[in-house]
Amino acid sequence: MSDWSIDSWRNKPILQQPTYDDAAEVADVEAKLASYPPLVFAAETRDLLGQLANVSQGDGFLLQGGDCAESFSEFNAPKIRDTFKVMLQMAIVLTFGGRCPVTKVARMAGQYAKPRSSDMETINGVSLPSYRGDIINSFEFTEAARRPDPQRLLQAYHNSAATLNLLRAFAQGGLADLHQVNRWNMAFVENNPLKDRYSDMANRIEDTLAFMDVIGINSQSHNTLHETSLFTSHEALLLNYEQALTRIDTLTGLPYNCSAHMLWIGERTRQLDHAHVEFFRGINNPIGVKIGPSMQPDELMTLIDALNPTNIPGRLTLITRMGADKLADNLPKLLARVKAEGRHVVWSSDPMHGNTFSASSGFKTRNFDAILREIQQFFTAHKQEGTHAGGIHLEMTGQHVTECTGGAYKISDDDLAQAYQTQCDPRLNADQVLEMAFLVSDYLKAK
Ligand code: PEP
Ligand code: CO
Repeated sequence: MSDWSIDSWRNKPILQQPTYDDAAEVADVEAKLASYPPLVFAAETRDLLGQLANVSQGDGFLLQGGDCAESFSEFNAPKIRDTFKVMLQMAIVLTFGGRCPVTKVARMAGQYAKPRSSDMETINGVSLPSYRGDIINSFEFTEAARRPDPQRLLQAYHNSAATLNLLRAFAQGGLADLHQVNRWNMAFVENNPLKDRYSDMANRIEDTLAFMDVIGINSQSHNTLHETSLFTSHEALLLNYEQALTRIDTLTGLPYNCSAHMLWIGERTRQLDHAHVEFFRGINNPIGVKIGPSMQPDELMTLIDALNPTNIPGRLTLITRMGADKLADNLPKLLARVKAEGRHVVWSSDPMHGNTFSASSGFKTRNFDAILREIQQFFTAHKQEGTHAGGIHLEMTGQHVTECTGGAYKISDDDLAQAYQTQCDPRLNADQVLEMAFLVSDYLKAK
């Protein structure tokens, strides 16, 4: 890739970036970040690439999820643990139900920068710069809080490092033990209003683990029952941060972005001739791109040509976020074209970002049924086109928030105020996300 360099993106138009007051301070922070240790190791990203290559060939399923935006104020162990737990709980349900391996990728340890639909926010006649994520400015609605502060790039790095450290400890230290994870699922099922619907699967998983134990396959004899691998990902929006954490891998001599295993480009910054596509072109990680309902087959092919010119399986995940009412009109033609052109991609469904609306209470929300309907339509479209529905991408938390309406507990518009904690988009809570897993496992099984 002779015409690419680590900073060639700086010569291209770029959207959704903060305007800092002091360029010298930004340069100083970038130099510090570039001298710090990488957060992930390139070989780990190749492991993920291998798993996603299998998914792109129809074998396996990608489960990607976490907060819309992580926050500095909620940077603590219970928060990290609860998201980790619910990812694992979902994964066991999908693995068992869908009879296929599940690759787990968290929107964690670096998901701090947010694209916004408007540069300014106005409340009661006062206009201030929009909140752009804790890596840039602060959520409170004051002039001082909303000023982009370059020191936050360093704070985001340190928080990401500590988050990743705890995730690795959980993954290898026993918290991920399959027996343990199913015990949490049994408790979820037991307490759920739709108990009868789910108890059969939880019981069958319990029986399977008990049977394996009898024939000597247990956590002591087989590490895979005791440990797991969880990869990290975020939207690589702030390219100066991503550049500073991009390193030449000593084993291959190639550039890898070492801020996370997988990075994606958002729907608002995926223009072919802009900076984000330029930067992503040259890093060797598995990458994703969000695809909204306006995407046309020709444009998608040019994007695929730019981001995966040599058609490496697992390199590119297309994350569709069309909206439950728009998917059926817009996705099938993309599936047909990519298939006809023989491109290896992972197709994943983000059923969140096309289904956001303002409730009568004023809260930004999403409805459980619309989210589920988009996933269902995603599976239907793939079945029709003979392609592989390869994954889901969720905004979710392990905590008991009330941000999305619906689900077994029938959260209503009026309930949203009880525990509406997100600083950005509404997330599925721990119960809703598990309920979703049980329902999606039925689609996986029916494939
Ligand atoms: C997101 O994933 O939080 C996001 C902003 O998505 P999109 O780019 O699809 O709008
Ligand atoms: Co979001």
